[in-house]
Amino acid sequence: MCGIVGYVGPRSAQDVIIGGLRRMEYRGYDSAGIAVVTDSGLAVAKKAGKLANLITELADSPLPPSSHGIGHTRWATHGGPTDGNAHPHASYSGRVAVVHNGIIENFASLRAELEAEGVVFASETDTEVAAQLLGREAEGGAALADAMRTVCGRLEGAFTLVAVDARTPGRIVAARRNSPLVVGVGEGEMFVASDVAAFIEYTREAVELGQDQVVEVTPDGYAVTTFTGEPAPSHPYHIDWDLSAAEKGGYDWFMRKEIFEQPRAVADTLLGRLDAEGNLVLDEIRIDDAELRRVDKIVIVACGTAFYAGLVAKYAIEHWTRVPCEVEIASEFRYRDPIITPTTLVVTISQSGETADTLMAIRHAREQNAKVIAICNTNGATIPRESDAVIYTHAGPEIGVASTKGFTTQIVACYLLGLYLAQVRGTKFGDEIRDLLDELEQIPAKMQQVLDGIDQVAELARRFVGQRSLLFLGRHVGYPVALEGALKLKEISYLHAEGFPAGELKHGPIALVEEGLPIFVVVPPQGRDQLHDKVVSNIQEVRARGALTVVLAEQGDEEARPFADVLIELPHVPTLFQPLVAVIPLQFFACELATLLGHDVDQPRNLAKSVTVE
Ligand code: F6R
Repeated sequence: MCGIVGYVGPRSAQDVIIGGLRRMEYRGYDSAGIAVVTDSGLAVAKKAGKLANLITELADSPLPPSSHGIGHTRWATHGGPTDGNAHPHASYSGRVAVVHNGIIENFASLRAELEAEGVVFASETDTEVAAQLLGREAEGGAALADAMRTVCGRLEGAFTLVAVDARTPGRIVAARRNSPLVVGVGEGEMFVASDVAAFIEYTREAVELGQDQVVEVTPDGYAVTTFTGEPAPSHPYHIDWDLSAAEKGGYDWFMRKEIFEQPRAVADTLLGRLDAEGNLVLDEIRIDDAELRRVDKIVIVACGTAFYAGLVAKYAIEHWTRVPCEVEIASEFRYRDPIITPTTLVVTISQSGETADTLMAIRHAREQNAKVIAICNTNGATIPRESDAVIYTHAGPEIGVASTKGFTTQIVACYLLGLYLAQVRGTKFGDEIRDLLDELEQIPAKMQQVLDGIDQVAELARRFVGQRSLLFLGRHVGYPVALEGALKLKEISYLHAEGFPAGELKHGPIALVEEGLPIFVVVPPQGRDQLHDKVVSNIQEVRARGALTVVLAEQGDEEARPFADVLIELPHVPTLFQPLVAVIPLQFFACELATLLGHDVDQPRNLAKSVTVE
């Protein structure tokens, strides 16, 4: 939530920062703002609404030339999305400006303290207390980095703060606790940002900041300390994707591009996982095999789409390892006092690696001495850093707010973990594991087959433009797919959509079914006779009550065909792998319908890509 960019170097700060904010806008788009340091002090521009509003304002009245500044794109928490609440926020003397991502939990008491000293606040935000505290320190003679360390010592909650001081040109100071921050290292120029996409155009060398660290950045270097001023080690790394991966490449939406990228993303996630003997190797697993053999319970913890990926994974992991596997919504996890022991393996799934609810669940699990494996798409993010081990999905940057390739690659990474556990624990023979891996390796081609026939789904979206409500049904691994199909539709089309286990419908929700209600049904492959036939019966139940059935079934499924008003044929895959192909038409349907309804698919209302507040 909230995107931050800072720049110091020879270029126009306004150009670099606005370019960076364009790529950070997926993190929040309630307002945008920029502050640059000039010879005559700070120049600030900020505007409610999307970045485009700020850009229009800057076109009419550009900021004075400067090569040093900060910018912000906001997802509102404290205070509505107004010009006044937009960041950057300045200190009372106008000397220090700050941008912030996160929530300062003790802001009310700090604000009262400052107001008692006569400070008049200009906004309703929690951020402004940080600006005013920094201003007070700076006016008292402290250098900006010292001021930042002192102020961070007083803040509670989650924050990335980036500040400039008008009296210290050529210097940016940033700090982080529980919120992301990376430094981009250029030649004679430096960047700070929430995410490397902000500066990938200029450099692919980055440094990740640890928890409770402050970084001071000048055009020629950076210095990292702890909040108490001790020098802290830094972790430089090379970014292995480039600008083109973060751009739309001819598609109208990032979401559409990312849907089409799924065959490649899944293939990349599978790449390099076998050793010379054909054994599965997961290099990033830093947990002893002996310890993995002792695991007696697996708990998957995640939010939203990642949670649904976990629901899919449960079926496979239990089937292959015979270890009980629970799946929990991260924001509920620690509040119900879960039974976690040193032999519990906690698996967290997070595309961004920054989701606050998931991070807090990890901390809770580790406090109970459980081992934590993260499945993550973002190199060096907080979640993998705070876990005992990580399996990276290699999906490339996911920018569309509605997750697509994140979901499918998360499922694949969970499958790799499940098979690895089966190998280590001996619950599957080597040849069985290799057969399953062979099947998985064919999935990208099968996904491509679905994408090649996707025009049928575009036609379906045109047909359903006037609908206000849609249902999704599935059984077994098809159930989480139904949930994900409904979530995609809610997120970007703003329609009422619900996913149900197909067998549960008759216990209540079937009352919703009326003439012409579209119901998408994911039919399992025919191999699992009972499962398949039960779902076919469920289709008949809703059809008999007037539903318009959109049936996703494998090619050649003649039993499902007669009950489908619309039949979407899927390539034949094993039951456990069906979500990887079945979800694609549902993702595409949501994207297409939202486009037809005139919604902003990549930036749906009220949402943000990376949810860094609890
Ligand atoms: C839905 C969506 C969200 C995320 C959730 C977790 O399309 O994107 O539900 O899946 O906020 O995010 P990560 O995976 O970054 O932890």
